[in-house]
Amino acid sequence: MKKFFKKSLIILIVLLFIISIAGCGKQQEVKETTDTVKDKETEKPIILKAAHVLSPTSHYEKGMQKFAELVEQKTEGKIKIEVYSGGVLGSERDMIESMQLGTLDIGLVSTAPLGGFLPKMMIFDLPFIFKDSEHAWSTADGPVGKEIFKELESQKIVGLAYWENGFRHLFTREVPVSKPKDLEGLKIRLMENVVHTTSYKVLGAIPVPMAWGELYTALQQGTVDGAENSIPVVYTSKFYEVCNNLTLTGHFYGIAPLLMSKATYDNLPEEYQKIIKDAAVEARDYQRNVTKQMEEDYIKKLKEVGMNIIKVDRSEFREKCKDVYTKFTDKIPEELINKVVK
Ligand code: PAF
Repeated sequence: MKKFFKKSLIILIVLLFIISIAGCGKQQEVKETTDTVKDKETEKPIILKAAHVLSPTSHYEKGMQKFAELVEQKTEGKIKIEVYSGGVLGSERDMIESMQLGTLDIGLVSTAPLGGFLPKMMIFDLPFIFKDSEHAWSTADGPVGKEIFKELESQKIVGLAYWENGFRHLFTREVPVSKPKDLEGLKIRLMENVVHTTSYKVLGAIPVPMAWGELYTALQQGTVDGAENSIPVVYTSKFYEVCNNLTLTGHFYGIAPLLMSKATYDNLPEEYQKIIKDAAVEARDYQRNVTKQMEEDYIKKLKEVGMNIIKVDRSEFREKCKDVYTKFTDKIPEELINKVVK
């Protein structure tokens, strides 16, 4: 009997021990689960503000949305990018300054206003410097573009990738332009960039540097006779409503660097910095394809809405601009120009 009690007691103790261990495991499991849920709930995503000045239907916006989607996906929702279009966060120059101050995280701008911060950037603005898009892309993505981005860091800005606006063409209200001489005395809105204004001066026009946000009204009211931009911009910004003619000069190539405030970039863990740079490159290829497609589609649409599309002998315009390069060798090193041209 005594033996029986002893045996039962041992079994009972063993059973109690097993139950208590199982209970602990369960408790541990419950604790871990609640902790993880709590972590996920409390870990707020990092929100980055990104801006550009073009419309929500533009090629800039399409690229930005793709970039935001990639970053969010690759960081598993830890970084979210909010895109502000239409210049609501200021002009391109304002955006560059805000990135320097760290009050704007990401900006997509043209190279033209960047020339005021880093003169070498104006290599991209020289007239007729690129034969075609491939030439522009290989320059921007290769050693030249990399060197320029490296130097931009001294301006507290990190270059993520070179996106694009596309070849820029001339559009005018009333006067159709087929030859450089037709530009004589026409007031043409340009970006605030000395290479652009000099080029139009040698072409015979009166350059009117003006902020982007003022352009539509200026054309509507006749303050300027024309302007120049890419086909996607002419269509998505509805310049066909205020201009009758589009001359396919392709005089400048619009490269659009996607930039990030160095203050924001340096604050991110290395893993996220890499994700952002990779996503910028992946979205760049997508954005370039969107631009190409828009160029093809929108030239047809511009014709349909009644724009007079004028094809020209580009060499006549190029010839007129041939001395522009030498005027800027104090700002853009000659070897760099030769490297790109060759
Ligand atoms: O003409 C400009 O100001 C620029 O090309 C634009 C349209 C803002 C895009 O970068």
